[in-house]
Amino acid sequence: MAKIERASGKYYVTTPVYYATGAPHIGHFYTTSAADALARWHRLLGDDTFFLTGTDENTLKLVKQAKEEGIPPRAVANRYAKRFEELTKKLDITNDDFIRTTDVAKHHPGAQEVWRRVERSGYIYKGTYEGLYCVECEAYYTEKDLKDGKCPVHGTAPEKLKEENYFFKLSAFGNRLKKIVESGEYAIEPAPRRNEILSVIKGGLIDVSCSRPADKLTMGVPVPGDDTQRMYVWFEALTNYLNGVGFGWDQKMFDRFWPADLHLIGKEILRFHAAIWPAMLLAAELPLPKKLYVHGFFQIEGEKIAKSKGNVVDPFELSEQHGLDPVRYYLLRALPYAGDGDYSERHFKEIYDSELANDLGNLASRVLTLIEKKCGGTVPEGAADPKIKEHVAQTHHEVANLLAAPKFAEALERLNQLVALANRFIEGRKVYQQESADLNGSLHTLAQVLGHLALLYQPFIPGKASELQKRLGLKPTGWDAESLLQWEKVPSGTPVTKGEPLFPRQPGG
Ligand code: MSP
Repeated sequence: MAKIERASGKYYVTTPVYYATGAPHIGHFYTTSAADALARWHRLLGDDTFFLTGTDENTLKLVKQAKEEGIPPRAVANRYAKRFEELTKKLDITNDDFIRTTDVAKHHPGAQEVWRRVERSGYIYKGTYEGLYCVECEAYYTEKDLKDGKCPVHGTAPEKLKEENYFFKLSAFGNRLKKIVESGEYAIEPAPRRNEILSVIKGGLIDVSCSRPADKLTMGVPVPGDDTQRMYVWFEALTNYLNGVGFGWDQKMFDRFWPADLHLIGKEILRFHAAIWPAMLLAAELPLPKKLYVHGFFQIEGEKIAKSKGNVVDPFELSEQHGLDPVRYYLLRALPYAGDGDYSERHFKEIYDSELANDLGNLASRVLTLIEKKCGGTVPEGAADPKIKEHVAQTHHEVANLLAAPKFAEALERLNQLVALANRFIEGRKVYQQESADLNGSLHTLAQVLGHLALLYQPFIPGKASELQKRLGLKPTGWDAESLLQWEKVPSGTPVTKGEPLFPRQPGG
């Protein structure tokens, strides 16, 4: 069997830094769980892994929110950053660090260093930003954003405002961006998103403002050498991906992990990540990330997730109600590779009942019960079924390839196929009626399959997978690509425990 294709032996994955102006919802939890699954997968392969998430805090919106509440911006930032950090802790996310863009020690130095480099290469210039400005929103509008010439939020006429700002010469990067995206040097997945950004690039890029006056953006990162200006939030927030692994404060760590192997983002922030970000890195003469995966959006029962619709599903509450692993499983299973997904209670229940309770849960309890009843609770010595053994090896390869895409739903489907095969094996052979050598061979084979499943499902349902590992006496860590692939996972003579159902029927079922 050929070896699994391996990258460099290190893996660095990121989520967007989330706005610290509201509580996390399942959309955020999706991206974070996806990154977590990949980080866990690469640790399982023995890769030197770093997983970064965090919060984006230097926004005008946050300043405005603070003003409305009559509290300092930092208080608002702390409140929501804490909620996002809590999400990682309570929902068992294995991020290696949590970066906040207000972090003066970890974020500011790198952000400013990028500015200096881009300026030194001649891609930052001072200009005048002219636009329609709503004082109450503290935001610029274009003519077409307005409603009858008035601010769409406040219904007041905006002022014409002129501001001295710095600009980033994005327009100079069209050809180079086209080349790196087309050649896959900076891979953008899935293909429709790659095509979307290519058409934006081909349509012509215009320079973007990269600073704001300091009195407007009180919490911003100071522009090096000009105290009257703050870096425009996107221009500094993007640099979190460098700063989180030490850029500007730990060169050794930076050299170890940069470039990022994968940025995970939602489709709405494609242009920032597929045009401005790589252009900034080219200008700063820093290596490009290897891949950007742009996923679709979850809706709730067919509706856009929005505070105003009152349909924001709280990942904490959802996990309380259904259990953390089933929620994570559902999110990764229900969002297609190149499209949007929907969260609905009915669909959740369907997936839970069929894939988790009936298929995986049932397989585990059947195999463990049979070993307990027929072999006194120890894995018997026996001949492995060659077809199943081959299928297990193939599963490893296919899952590895699917996760490299990354195609989460398909990887889970692939694992479910192995579960289905094992269940069919039990039925087809009537293992519960078998005796002596036949029985021993079947149960030995099935114990190995469970062992592989306990490891392969670990990135997606870490709690339940670890429970299954315990029942099989399987070590949770210390694996690498080679040992992971080895057939023998639960040697003959290993005592196993049956335990409670892994996925009990849920209320209403
Ligand atoms: N702060 C910026 C990102 C800066 S990165 C340098 C931002 N923050 S955000 O809080 O709005 O988070 C956006 C991200 O959350 C999306 O790109 C996506 O990863 C995730 N999601 C938010 N809503 C989502 C859904 N409804 N469905 C799936 N993911 C969603 O943009």
